[in-house]
Amino acid sequence: MLVIALCKGRFLEPSLDLLMQAGIRFPEDLASSRKLIFNSDDQRFRAVLVKPADVATYVEYGAADAGIAGRDVVLESRADVLQPLDLKFGYCKIAVAGVNGAAFPSSQGRGGREAAGVVSSAEMPGAGLTTPSAPPDRWLSAQPPILCEEGNVDHQFSRPTIRVATKYPRITMDYYNARGIPVEIIPLSGSIELAPLIGLADRIVDLVETGRTLKDNGLEIVEVITDSSARLLINRAGYQTKRDEVLRLIQALEKVIR
Ligand code: PRP
Repeated sequence: MLVIALCKGRFLEPSLDLLMQAGIRFPEDLASSRKLIFNSDDQRFRAVLVKPADVATYVEYGAADAGIAGRDVVLESRADVLQPLDLKFGYCKIAVAGVNGAAFPSSQGRGGREAAGVVSSAEMPGAGLTTPSAPPDRWLSAQPPILCEEGNVDHQFSRPTIRVATKYPRITMDYYNARGIPVEIIPLSGSIELAPLIGLADRIVDLVETGRTLKDNGLEIVEVITDSSARLLINRAGYQTKRDEVLRLIQALEKVIR
């Protein structure tokens, strides 16, 4: 029997859909049950429900043979797991954001994302991130204080170290370290967008899917750090010791990925 760790929350339904298309069905409604362990109809698979940020940990330690989780949380966990498949759902970005006008202030005289040195995806935090010739936070920090919509001084200019609120402290630290920008991380677990609005932080590093939460809160992307989507995770040892079962799972999913 292969144990598959699945995320509670927004990934659960698309994960179950994908497994069902691959012929893996569960007799109960996992989403509405309070149970955490479910065996498949054919008893070949066992699904365990965990928090998204914990999926990679369960797989790394072999408590689960496989898992489905976003690349964002896998990067943040730094778990040593195999990632054989992009499952083609759960698309989003991890981005630095700030109050409107923070990314390209008109006074700067240089506009557009190109000027900000926007980077593309990187496989590991810090790795493959090109160092822009003029990192936005650095050149912004050289500017005089500007006013936010509320009329308050933008806090990024009022203290020597940028404060960044995030639920991705490692990715954030790697991003700023790669640019040599001193940063103070404020770890939060939700409603990250609130932090720059009430003076807790100058910037946030958060997941952006539709962009609606940023927009509705008067925030904008300063720089995209990397892209994310759902990944199949496989325990390294299990890939050897349960090779046939694992390969069958990978092949079955590969066939149904759109
Ligand atoms: C995530 C993320 C953003 C939002 C982005 O939060 O942290 O707040 O979704 O989605 P959007 O770009 O489509 O608006 P989540 O809903 O997981 O809640 P949280 O604030 O409790 O983390």
